[in-house]
Amino acid sequence: MADPHCDICMIGLGVMGRNFALNIRDHGFSVAGYDRDGEQLALWMAEAGGGNLFGAAKLEDAVRLLRKPRAVMMLVPAGPPVDAVIRELLPMLEAGDLIIDGGNSHFRDTELRQKTLAEKGLFLLGVGVSGGASGARGGPSLMPGGPREAYERICNIFESTAARVEGEPCVAYLGPGSAGHYVKMVHNGIEYGFLQLIAETYDLMKRGLGLNDTELREVFRDWNGSELNSFLLEITVNIFGEVDPKTGRPLINEILDEARQKGTGKWASEDAMELQVPIPTIDAAVAMRNLSMYKEERLAIHHALNLPLVGFTGDRSAFLDRLRNALYAALILTYAQGMAQLRAASVTYGYGFPLETVARIWRGGCIIRAAVLENIRGAFERQPSLENLLTDPDLGAEVSKRRGDLKDVVCEAVGLGIPVPGLMASLGYLDSFRSDWLPANLIQAQRDYFGAHTYERNDEKGVFHTQWIGQ
Ligand code: 6PG
Repeated sequence: MADPHCDICMIGLGVMGRNFALNIRDHGFSVAGYDRDGEQLALWMAEAGGGNLFGAAKLEDAVRLLRKPRAVMMLVPAGPPVDAVIRELLPMLEAGDLIIDGGNSHFRDTELRQKTLAEKGLFLLGVGVSGGASGARGGPSLMPGGPREAYERICNIFESTAARVEGEPCVAYLGPGSAGHYVKMVHNGIEYGFLQLIAETYDLMKRGLGLNDTELREVFRDWNGSELNSFLLEITVNIFGEVDPKTGRPLINEILDEARQKGTGKWASEDAMELQVPIPTIDAAVAMRNLSMYKEERLAIHHALNLPLVGFTGDRSAFLDRLRNALYAALILTYAQGMAQLRAASVTYGYGFPLETVARIWRGGCIIRAAVLENIRGAFERQPSLENLLTDPDLGAEVSKRRGDLKDVVCEAVGLGIPVPGLMASLGYLDSFRSDWLPANLIQAQRDYFGAHTYERNDEKGVFHTQWIGQ
């Protein structure tokens, strides 16, 4: 057995682990690798083509290759597999060693694991890794959280391997405990929202305007060249160019209209409810993924109700302009919701991360990277305690001037019978936040009427109860 010389060990050589390990190797670090599936290990070794990479058939052999104090990173599916790896690792590690969980673990699980491991003198960093396979290989966005001293031990590896924007690495220490996994969860919530919004524009253009796949590709390409420039639009352009080798037809039309999920978007919604932070676009996106899974029921209702779609009769080119503006406004509104959730979580859970830092490390490498993130970063740089992005004069103005288009698109969609719950929720969020009055007084009165829950008054502090008419 060789001397312990490796800087880090990667456990789990699936698509993310394999690529991130190669990325680490390419930046001059030596990496030990292990996967319980021997085939994955062999594949990785073959793909690696030498260099400072050392595959081991047994976990203990991989761990033995590590310099002390050891750093072991795992990229395995969230949930029980993470606990299984930790259990297996425990007898091989000693106080001072560091485990890095780079998967999409639930932030509460990360906290529990950190506590248990700390009792044994071990460190656990929960790190959000975003960017898929190509990001992991060429530079992901990294969202680390946990004990700061542990982060400092591996920050040179993370800073060298992360994506770079204007020379700055897309990684920063985000705070103690589960800060990193929390930020990644909200990143994924925004990802759900963005995907849903793009899907709705696709539906409006396909079933509403009757655009074909070539036209759709052109529109998305055009949008990606505008203020909407983003990774998700870039891949959408490519998706509309893909031909199905089986049928020779555009692949997009051969794909079942049911969207699956691993759960991070749902967790973001759940915790936003817990924190009482409204994130309606993200909630709608999660609900629409769920609804899409009811294919048989959808078909049954489609046939039973027999309500035909109405044809679009307006000016197509003017509508496409409005649609682009509506998408941009809704995108800012989605980021506003995610950032508001992060702001609340940072205070409530004691993470203490500056939102400017979060926006900065999302500008490159990650799935939700988009040109607008530079404007968002700028807003938090100008005003670190900004409560809502809509109160930033620049972003507020961007949304304000597109509100009419967002409203027109939603109205048009309603007329056509095309569902746009993400756009609607974004418009509702905007209209609610810009309201200086909401009908919540009636809800207070009703709660007091039927349950004596009391209410508050405009003209006097305190809580009040009324013996209402008819009681
Ligand atoms: C990323 C992604 C990734 C996520 C997938 C699938 O940032 O690289 O967020 O971590 O696992 O996008 O998520 P769902 O299965 O929940 O859609």
